Amino acid sequence: MEWTRGRTLGRGSSATVYAATCHNSGEIIAVKSAELSRSGFLQREAKILSSLNSPYVVGYRGCHITKMRSDSAVYNLLMEYAPSGTVADVAAKNGSGLGETMFAKYTRQIIRGLEYLHSKGIVHCDIKGSNVLIGESGDAMIADFGCAKRVDPEPDSAEPIRGTPAFMAPEAARGEKQGKESDIWAVGCTVIEMATGSPPWTAEAGDPFSVIYRVGYSGESPEIPCFLTEQAKDFLRRCLERKPEERWTASQLLNHPFVCKPDPEPGLIPGSISNSPTSVMDQLFWRSVEEEEDLGHPSRWVSHDERIGRLRCVGYGGPTWDLEGGDWVTVRERCDGTMIGGSHCEFVISGNVM
Ligand code: ADE
Repeated sequence: MEWTRGRTLGRGSSATVYAATCHNSGEIIAVKSAELSRSGFLQREAKILSSLNSPYVVGYRGCHITKMRSDSAVYNLLMEYAPSGTVADVAAKNGSGLGETMFAKYTRQIIRGLEYLHSKGIVHCDIKGSNVLIGESGDAMIADFGCAKRVDPEPDSAEPIRGTPAFMAPEAARGEKQGKESDIWAVGCTVIEMATGSPPWTAEAGDPFSVIYRVGYSGESPEIPCFLTEQAKDFLRRCLERKPEERWTASQLLNHPFVCKPDPEPGLIPGSISNSPTSVMDQLFWRSVEEEEDLGHPSRWVSHDERIGRLRCVGYGGPTWDLEGGDWVTVRERCDGTMIGGSHCEFVISGNVM
């Protein structure tokens, strides 16, 4: 497949997401790229995404290795393009969050996506508004599987904890375990984010250590916004149950009256919805421990002992790749690095990764 890289949609510290056009079909896709030598996390994400197929999970379109002019190689994960950005974008754009009909719809779709993932034995580990894309049809899709893992029937307390502090479940914050139940807690936090425009625990803004400590040890759950309907509040209580064994499962939540409602009219989508998504990474004031380093690097896979010390606020940084020769460049290479039609690889990206 040949494709042409377009404008940047978002940047992380070691991966950048671009829009791109497929030559054959004309389809717009999203391409997440990282320097090959530091792309273990992206290759792992590609492997997980390639095994999934649900309307509520961003679609996999393939992977390619391309070369930079400097001769260093770039790993590219090709995905379905989501023209409206993320639910975090839409909630934040809307100032004080989305209306309840809207976020009930997104919540139902997120839970459907999670029910599918959990049925396949996958835990996402980083559910939050900036990892939920809004697709062409206006439906929510779970994205960014950089922290995802297989369900571990016998969790090991030395297992690293992944994710974003403000969305972390108490058992994960304490480093005990991170399972399907922890994703459900994160859904509760995401509902608060959609309803208010901000993630929970804003009193601790900017200090991940305080949040981890408060989530893990205070005995509190995030504050449920007082303006919500009783149904929404009840739904949130089921998600934000501190004891993981008392939290509802995705399948149970799908039968909760809060999400058993007809969809709103498509035209009611607030902020609606430019076809130029803004940055979808680095949206929140906390970045997750995502895309930090390759697999196995301790700042990504935070060990039990290191989890608090290593979680940090990550500023805007990362690759400073510039597109060469204008906005659009052509890429001709297969996933295994061989050239299509024996041609050379036209140049793609140049610059340094900081
Ligand atoms: N940002 C990250 N992934 C994306 C996608 N698939 N579509 C649009 N923006 C994105």
